[in-house]
Amino acid sequence: MSQLASRRIVLGVSGGIAAYKSVDLCRRLIELGAHVVPVMTDDAHRFIGPVTLSALASEPVHTSLWDDASVIPHTKLGQTADIVVVAPATARVLSAYATGSSEDLLTATLIATRAPVVVCPAMHTEMWEHAAVQENIKTLRRRGVHVVEPEIGKLAGGDVGAGRLASTDSICAEIIRVLELSHDLAGIDIVVTAGGTREPIDAVRVISNRSSGKQGYAVATVAAQRGARVTLITTVDRAVPAGVLEIQVETAQQMKDAVDAAAVSADVVIMAAAVADFRPVICADQKLKKADGIPNIVLESTPDILAGLGQRKPVGQILVGFAAETDSLVAHAKAKLTSKCLDLIVANDVSAPGVGFGHDTNAVVILSPNAPPISVALADKHTVAHALLDSVVKVRRQKQETK
Ligand code: CTP
Repeated sequence: MSQLASRRIVLGVSGGIAAYKSVDLCRRLIELGAHVVPVMTDDAHRFIGPVTLSALASEPVHTSLWDDASVIPHTKLGQTADIVVVAPATARVLSAYATGSSEDLLTATLIATRAPVVVCPAMHTEMWEHAAVQENIKTLRRRGVHVVEPEIGKLAGGDVGAGRLASTDSICAEIIRVLELSHDLAGIDIVVTAGGTREPIDAVRVISNRSSGKQGYAVATVAAQRGARVTLITTVDRAVPAGVLEIQVETAQQMKDAVDAAAVSADVVIMAAAVADFRPVICADQKLKKADGIPNIVLESTPDILAGLGQRKPVGQILVGFAAETDSLVAHAKAKLTSKCLDLIVANDVSAPGVGFGHDTNAVVILSPNAPPISVALADKHTVAHALLDSVVKVRRQKQETK
């Protein structure tokens, strides 16, 4: 079995009792064909000796930012890695990574790398369940970091609970999955939209909707991780995923202009934005004054960006819409799939608990004209993004086969 042949894995080991298990992980990764470069924190040396890892990996263990003044170790490690894995990841390392503090070689490498990162937390239950740790995990997930959740089991000191390092098998399976994913959209141009458009009423007021842009950003993050060149056209100001070109817009018309321009050379367009359907015919230059009475705001339709793209879709391009519904989910989404000439539509019931606008989670049904629907139960928005991009990969393969 050489599923990891010629893969360069930076294996970060931080200071917890589970550090001894990193020896078995290192051995297994090497058996799978990987080249392992171990990086230990100072605290990890208290639990295992570096000779064990360096002998297994045939590679010196790296610990210090300062050992060799002629090289910049963290950028070199970060740039040459196919993947960075931290097992075990302590609460301290997760906190430093989430807040961007590069306090030692391991955390500096995590911040310096563009490679996918897998963290495998291990700590006592009280620490794992602490709000600060859970917030850090949430932040890292939102940025596209892969988390192998700890298991429930025996912990140091005889306690039993959640926090035991995941098994070597689970960690290896995740590394293989992430490395496979990191290439399947290589060379593909993807345009993603995010957020709700804002249609001005006057100098200070707008008509908008509750979209937070989280799902669109998750799609952009995951698409970039899987190798795509991503253009993100957005109305919200969130941290831009690494490697993504961001274009800020506000109104439906501005979004249409930006999407139309970017779509010309795109292989895939994913309209996750909640585009306003109506806008005021006139936008007052000045703030409307209360004393002047209740304004009579006349509305007109905005352009349907996606329907326009559907009408002039180039051969081979994949168009994906989102359907925000509050009733008859599948029927309404199917109608949009057909009327807008889409390859896929992601239907979500935005009235269901934890679903759609503003939430970190979503539950969707992915529909296409010729395949059975795919249901994704309530999950974080990155998981939904992966499911959607899996469907995009399938549709692309089908289109190439029927060329
Ligand atoms: N969309 C668009 N331009 C619009 C309205 C919607 O490109 N003016 C896109 C959205 O980005 C989404 C899809 O069309 O991908 C469906 O949007 P949705 O709001 O669910 O439906 P509408 O087509 O606006 O119809 P309705 O509001 O009646 O459900």
